[in-house]
Amino acid sequence: MKSESYKPFPHQSIAASPLLPHACELETAFARAWGKVTAHGNLPRWQQALDLLPALPVIAVHIDQPTIQIETKPVNADQHTALIEALRQLIPWRKGPFQLAEVTIDTEWRSDLKWDRISPHIAPLTDRTVLDIGCGSGYHCWRMRGAGAKLVLGIDPSALYAMQFQSIQHYIQEPQVQMWPLGIDDLPPVMACFDTVFSMGLLYHRKSPIAHLQQLLSLLRPGGELVLETLVIEGDAQTCLIPQGRYAKMRNVWFIPSSAMLLRWLERCGAKRIRMVDCTATTTDEQRATEWMHFESLKDFLDPNDPTRTIEGYPAPKRATILAER
Ligand SMILES: C[S@@+](CC[C@H](N)C(=O)[O-])C[C@H]1O[C@@H](n2cnc3c(N)ncnc32)[C@H](O)[C@@H]1O
Repeated sequence: MKSESYKPFPHQSIAASPLLPHACELETAFARAWGKVTAHGNLPRWQQALDLLPALPVIAVHIDQPTIQIETKPVNADQHTALIEALRQLIPWRKGPFQLAEVTIDTEWRSDLKWDRISPHIAPLTDRTVLDIGCGSGYHCWRMRGAGAKLVLGIDPSALYAMQFQSIQHYIQEPQVQMWPLGIDDLPPVMACFDTVFSMGLLYHRKSPIAHLQQLLSLLRPGGELVLETLVIEGDAQTCLIPQGRYAKMRNVWFIPSSAMLLRWLERCGAKRIRMVDCTATTTDEQRATEWMHFESLKDFLDPNDPTRTIEGYPAPKRATILAER
């Protein structure tokens, strides 16, 4: 694969979509974001990895199953080695799993488990224009398209995740799934155009959670659906954890409300039809170190003598999914 760091703005993908009125602002944000990626110190290595991706005899792609799969005819040893070597340059792989030919990327997170908890409850994605904020490698974006979405835009400021997405997109070649290296604040201020907006695993990283909720609602068309998945703690509508330092070794965790407080926040922001559809403790089956993510993982973030507590003594991670409408 020979590709350049410069990415042309995908006019065609948004041409017949509700994003069209925002094309100018999006194009500017897109160019700025790819400019930042280009300046990343690791870009030459990642770009080289993408350039080394071998041609594969693709038979089919499967985006509607737990493992996003690029099914091929048998590949030869050189193709197999080149594929593994290229994908390994993009470690750590956190969100997946993916299978390319005979290579399975067993990511840190079994992101399929989150999708299984959430997808049965949401408004059908058929023909919807969807935004996935903080999409990581884009795993859930593929699942959203697999569930019938007309256009999926994933955004995440991580340059590495953008490269991981490119490596999968290289084989799938699906212009209706886009992943741009933007943060939420890089989006135009008033969009009000998405049918569904996902914010999964992001709220607790925001310094102003209520501003984040307002921002999410403002991205939706009237009647559109918000899918909010975030860490919660036990407690009533007045309970919120603001960690003193780190939470589960993460530096950037600001607010972990109770689910009751989260519902109250959404109510105060004017959201409609607010309901919690799932609340599940994160397990070490779902988040763990693998050969594709060598660093510490959930097991190392919990108190070895009491797995119901984090290493800092806070309640162990539990995540709620809340649906609401604008
Ligand atoms: C915990 S991960 C969640 C990934 C995925 N949504 C999931 O639920 O599996 C949080 C993601 O949000 C991204 N992120 C952090 N700040 C962001 C921002 N300001 N705008 C968009 N994404 C952001 C991070 O790079 C990271 O990939």
